[in-house]
Amino acid sequence: MAEVIDGKQVAASVIESVKQAAAELERSKGVKTGLAVVIVGDDPASHTYVGAKSRMAKECGFASIQHTLPAETAQEELAALVRNLNENPLIHGILVQLPLPKHLDSGPIIQSIKPEKDVDGLHVVNAGKVVTGDLDGGLVSCTPAGAMVFVRHAHGNDLSGLNAVVIGRSNLFGKPMSALLLAANATVTTAHKGTKDLPGFCRNADILVVAVGRAELVKADWVKPGATVIDVGINRISVDGKSRLVGDAAFEECAKVAGVITPVPGGVGPMTIAMLMANTVIAAQRLSG
Ligand code: GUN
Repeated sequence: MAEVIDGKQVAASVIESVKQAAAELERSKGVKTGLAVVIVGDDPASHTYVGAKSRMAKECGFASIQHTLPAETAQEELAALVRNLNENPLIHGILVQLPLPKHLDSGPIIQSIKPEKDVDGLHVVNAGKVVTGDLDGGLVSCTPAGAMVFVRHAHGNDLSGLNAVVIGRSNLFGKPMSALLLAANATVTTAHKGTKDLPGFCRNADILVVAVGRAELVKADWVKPGATVIDVGINRISVDGKSRLVGDAAFEECAKVAGVITPVPGGVGPMTIAMLMANTVIAAQRLSG
């Protein structure tokens, strides 16, 4: 039976050090870490995530401002808000929750955030630093940064000789995750919709990371015995008329084969929020340096 990682516990220890860093910044420089979270429209899942992020920011001792804009907000209104936040010295981190309503173009909005305040790590400057291996100079996307904490827990810092397979190639997760694994010397395959024989690739993985949003896609016979399985999916399914959250891996059966596995919920999810808080206090430290 695999070791099941307790994401809540690991996240709690990250949050503890963020609280200390924020308190120290306030004590030494009189700077209160400021996070602005922007949400447009009324997607219920996005509101749940944003609520959790704003609450955690307060718990960390940050000044947290949430901007809730109506679904019909115009591109220029949202762009103007980002410009304001970029220039606001009390704000060190800016997060625009995705996805945006269909009539809005998220690309120019994300790229208009000052890279120094881009705590999601989505600006091309930050994404580029991850790809070029400048991991200390920019801000690393939160979910892959959190997933890497689990990978390092299982395998240490140097992944030389290990095969990693990442299923999914989004800018928010798959691409930066593959880049981080490569920077740690793993041999990385990024699989996606167009991949032929996905189970075959997975069976070769010492580290298998899945982020595609397909409930229980990865089966036990896709998992190499003893492998580390990092499940980034979060899917709501109905079992016997009851609603349940499951990941992109079939947890019960995969846990019998894997060496280490993250559960859903309670694995990667809590770490994403913790890493967002960590990025925000890092941004505040740098901007007040
Ligand atoms: N939507 C789902 N996950 C995320 C995230 O990490 N950041 C942002 N901005 N939007 C998201």
